[in-house]
Amino acid sequence: MGKRVALLTGGGDCPGLNAVIRAVTRRSLDRGYEVVGVREGWRGLVDGKLQPLDDRAISGILPRGGTILGTTRTNPYKIDGGVERVLERFAGEGLDALVAIGGEDTLGVASRLFEEHSFPVVGVPKTIDNDLSATDYTFGFDTALTVATEAIDRLHTTAESHNRVMVVEVMGRHTGWIAVMSGMAGGADVILIPEHPITIEEACTDIQRRHERGKDFSIVVVSEGYELTYASGEKQQIAQAPAATDQFGHVRLGGVGDVLAREIEERTGYETRVTVLGHVQRGGTPTPRDRVLATRYGLKAADLVHEARWGTMAALHGDDVVEVLLKDAVAELKTVPPEFYEAAKTFFG
Ligand code: F6P
Repeated sequence: MGKRVALLTGGGDCPGLNAVIRAVTRRSLDRGYEVVGVREGWRGLVDGKLQPLDDRAISGILPRGGTILGTTRTNPYKIDGGVERVLERFAGEGLDALVAIGGEDTLGVASRLFEEHSFPVVGVPKTIDNDLSATDYTFGFDTALTVATEAIDRLHTTAESHNRVMVVEVMGRHTGWIAVMSGMAGGADVILIPEHPITIEEACTDIQRRHERGKDFSIVVVSEGYELTYASGEKQQIAQAPAATDQFGHVRLGGVGDVLAREIEERTGYETRVTVLGHVQRGGTPTPRDRVLATRYGLKAADLVHEARWGTMAALHGDDVVEVLLKDAVAELKTVPPEFYEAAKTFFG
């Protein structure tokens, strides 16, 4: 019997979302299923914002960034009667399955709905932060990494011309995947990440050592979630005002680059500038690697729906796209391992 399959994209947008939508829709339509897009993440199921997805709707969207379905950080568990509305709407619309495309927050809701209500959901791992467990990579990460690396390459020439220290602030929330990998790829002289915080004093020593070796400019990559850490033991997390949290309890990070740049300039005497890459890392067309990964994830998710493998997620293990449990993907953040950071440190200073 034909299924009615719903699709939603939640949390921060990221390049490759449309490639997943296209793949799930195409394979499901080929099976004779009906496909329905849920607008604006979980909000679309709370408020009833649905749209049919057919061949026409998915035509030409593969290279497009963002999401044709829109997205929000709505958490039905934080809305009075939100979960009940999701369940009622889902049943009322005659839906049989949901493909939830998201990161730890969106998939956390999916996992809970499955555990508590046997909700027929499968997940697809999305986030530029690459911080989801149970998968080697999330789609969107490669594009963010490419943007950040290109920015670091470009900053090299202007840093060198002016004998400056250039601080580059990248996204990543509480993990330093974008920072450590773009920093390694771009040949950064210091990289600061939340998981393995070196002190400001150590960072300045590295920069000074480099200058003593005759290099009059330096590139410092800092992850937005790095807590300013001092030799005294003092620590400071920089967040944007207002410090209010979203429905998943996250503060809006950003601004650490500015403070760090001031500290470096004061302590070393070297002229320092800061570049905050921000949402540029999330915008625009996905890299070929992300398009392919997103497409393979979408096809796998459609197959998981077909086989009624509820409570699972498509994941990348090596070169294979496999099935894992949603609850394993959201149990804990995937952080940068110490040996990975140690490798990057070889090139500091
Ligand atoms: O999770 C993706 C991400 O881009 C993080 O790196 C960043 O901290 C956050 O989203 C920014 O969120 P918003 O789009 O709400 O500003």
